[in-house]
Amino acid sequence: MRETLLPYGHQTLDDADIQAVVDVLKSDWLTTGPKVGEFEEAFAAWVGAKHAVSFSSGTAALHGAAFAAGLDAGDEAITTPLTFCATANCVLYQGATPLFADVCEDTLNLDPQQVLRKVSSRTKAIIAVDYAGHPAALDELRQIAEAKNLLLIEDACHALGAEYRGKRAGGIADMTVFSFHPVKHLTTGEGGMVTTNHARAAETMRRFRNHGISSEARQRQESGQWFYEMVLLGFNYRLTDFACALGRSQLEKLDANLSRRRQIAARYSSAFKGQGGLTPPGVHGDVNPAWHLYPIRVDAGKLRGGRPQIFRALRAENIGVNVHYIPIHQHPYYRDRFGYRGGEFPIAERAYEQLISLPIFHGMSDRDVDDVIRAVEKVIAHYYEG
Ligand SMILES: Cc1ncc(COP(=O)(O)O)c(C=O)c1O
Repeated sequence: MRETLLPYGHQTLDDADIQAVVDVLKSDWLTTGPKVGEFEEAFAAWVGAKHAVSFSSGTAALHGAAFAAGLDAGDEAITTPLTFCATANCVLYQGATPLFADVCEDTLNLDPQQVLRKVSSRTKAIIAVDYAGHPAALDELRQIAEAKNLLLIEDACHALGAEYRGKRAGGIADMTVFSFHPVKHLTTGEGGMVTTNHARAAETMRRFRNHGISSEARQRQESGQWFYEMVLLGFNYRLTDFACALGRSQLEKLDANLSRRRQIAARYSSAFKGQGGLTPPGVHGDVNPAWHLYPIRVDAGKLRGGRPQIFRALRAENIGVNVHYIPIHQHPYYRDRFGYRGGEFPIAERAYEQLISLPIFHGMSDRDVDDVIRAVEKVIAHYYEG
């Protein structure tokens, strides 16, 4: 058994990252300065989008995308229940209503057929989540969006660097949202980004994150102007200049971080292939996942115990397993507000009962990976009854 707890996710910062932040702390601009644009441009180029707009978190970025999509009272947006609550909350922030559609059994991503059943004249957007870093069925969802005149928003907070049919997440949907929380592929502490190829949406989001004001303080200072106008109701969702310097520096390491995560996932998948009592995550042939999470599913029918027992046993081995996610409609707020009783989304609900996220992050050593594999094999062997 390991001596110390291995977390399920963790950031890696090097001296260059720290120096990049220190340089900004010694400069004139702590909030929106030159590093914001530098980070946004480099990020847009990396994912293959025309525009990138930074936000103070992935949650704020989702709110920006929901605003730019024009979601308003009386509108609906369709999303998956098997995600972090921020994905659906952004719809509520706009006074609109999130509707859920069940997921596919293998990838646990939105099932396009289920989405189609929920579309009505009130629907304005589909918000797909790339669960665990595996892209959603974006072409099928895009076809629905085009046929029904909806916007496709991709919550790629798990999926920076994921590829779908040869293209990177970020340049595919109408708007794609990323998070830079420390457990993600690239971190700015807190932070987020929306990428888009629509210039108008990018402009709207730039204003939305800055109180709805038409220009930025630095532009005014540099042009000697004081005049500004508030043209829409926005928020202060700006990402600081030192966070953007960190993001720009972290971007240099993104390719290496992704390939390390892919190596770890490949080791897990080959170790657990054919192992009775658990199912490794399904991967479609036309994608290259980004592996934010590595969620296995435990099969209580073949084990003397269910997810709670396996989870506790892995924690007792100092493996910092986690669970992603309680389906959103099962949270008390959603249950009370929308009257969900359980049973509405059987695939997501059953998956939730089985899911355990194993540690995966780019800073894991080979020894850490061995520890996880050994602990999983030991615990499953102990509970297995075929
Ligand atoms: C799928 C998903 N969407 C949105 C968010 C929110 O991002 P943030 O924590 O940066 O606000 C997260 C956070 O982990 C997430 O996993």
